[in-house]
Amino acid sequence: MAKFLVQKSGPLEGEVTISGSKNAVLPILAATLLSKEDCVIKDAPALRDVDVMCRLLESLGAAVNTDFENNRVEVNASGELHYEAPYDLVKMMRASILVLGALLVRTGRALIHLPGGCAIGERPIELHLKGLRALGAVIDEEQLSRGIVDARAEGLHGNDIYLDFPSVGATEVIIMAASLAEGTTILENAAQEPEIVDLANFLNKMGARIKGAGTDTIKIEGVQQFRGVSHHVIPDRIEAGTFMIAAAITGGRVLIRNMVPNHLKAVIAKLRECNVEIAMTEEGVLVSADQKPIVSTDIKTLPYPGFPTDMQSPFMALLTVARGPSVVIETVFENRFMHVGEFNRMGANIKTEGKAAIIPGGKQLQGAQVVATDLRAGASVVLAGLVAEGTTEVSQIYHIDRGYENFAEKLRGLGANIMRIEE
Ligand code: EPZ
Repeated sequence: MAKFLVQKSGPLEGEVTISGSKNAVLPILAATLLSKEDCVIKDAPALRDVDVMCRLLESLGAAVNTDFENNRVEVNASGELHYEAPYDLVKMMRASILVLGALLVRTGRALIHLPGGCAIGERPIELHLKGLRALGAVIDEEQLSRGIVDARAEGLHGNDIYLDFPSVGATEVIIMAASLAEGTTILENAAQEPEIVDLANFLNKMGARIKGAGTDTIKIEGVQQFRGVSHHVIPDRIEAGTFMIAAAITGGRVLIRNMVPNHLKAVIAKLRECNVEIAMTEEGVLVSADQKPIVSTDIKTLPYPGFPTDMQSPFMALLTVARGPSVVIETVFENRFMHVGEFNRMGANIKTEGKAAIIPGGKQLQGAQVVATDLRAGASVVLAGLVAEGTTEVSQIYHIDRGYENFAEKLRGLGANIMRIEE
């Protein structure tokens, strides 16, 4: 098992380039199943989850060429597709559920064994299924009670769908299924994340007719078939936010290239409340925390455009050392404070009460042996290790490999003292 050894590092200086978005490329790769022509995905990050999705597409019958050296993936799904997703791949990545809509459209059936809950929550998919039923799919209830999604559809038809919660995955699955359905679908209370917009742009390039992506109401007019396309994936806003925190927590000055500031407005606003200077320049976003002490602020996670839940643990790392107390409220997932115990092993003295975490702040953290409990929490204990006295040993870093391309190399490029050791 690999580990990171992180030593106290001086202020990070220099520049870092953000990779393509994990949470955009995964639904886009699933959507390539909807076309029978060549699709080329560019700026695809070389991540464990992307590799698993590519292997999943292959197992379903698509021809997949990965060239991660050049962040490029080619897919051709013209052949006969199988309708069952292999459990050994699905259990490695719950985002495998994103092939549900495309499989249903292409083969008339989709059979996916659901993985159980994970560190951050139970991860139900009843909203995905509500949408597919509205489009005409029939789901075997007995199988579902055993955690197996067995959906069939003799052709899908458009419908009006209201999502009880703006679920990102449900929005993506429904958009994919509705794009080749007969007639028009209006999806209300849809997720508005930038990754939804990127998926809709990809599908529209293929010939779909989707309007309103990025708002809470999306109109999808079904079309007959899709052509092949090539597409550049948007930059990963959560990786960008993570490096902004790395600059802030070490009191450094870092230029972040290839990020879209508009995708991180809530995070930028909160960092400015903490005395971090953020300037938009021609070359990228300049984050400076070398002038003023970091002060605390309160955070409440919400669906986009609110403060992103994926930035909750990285931001909490900053709040453990910021001057003054702060409160973090996690409203999106029911169990996303697993990193609190790891921060407390470093001396953060955080208390949690239901959805709220109370951070006293102003701590000099101590290096400790800690665990990455999910991919964002893993990144956040590395950030804390950059300012903790002594050495912080982070284990289970395969979580980090799922969502951060060359994480240690990029941090070392900014002067961080971090080593990867393979045990
Ligand atoms: C996506 O997960 C992201 N993953 C997550 O990023 C991200 O945290 C999440 O959206 C929220 O922004 C990918 O895009 C691959 P949801 P997803 O459906 O689609 C509840 C990371 O670190 N819900 O919006 O699974 C659910 O339980 C990962 O990169 C239902 O109750 O998120 C959760 O509490 C972690 N019923 C909340 O909604 C449903 O049918 C948000 O889930 C579906 C969801």
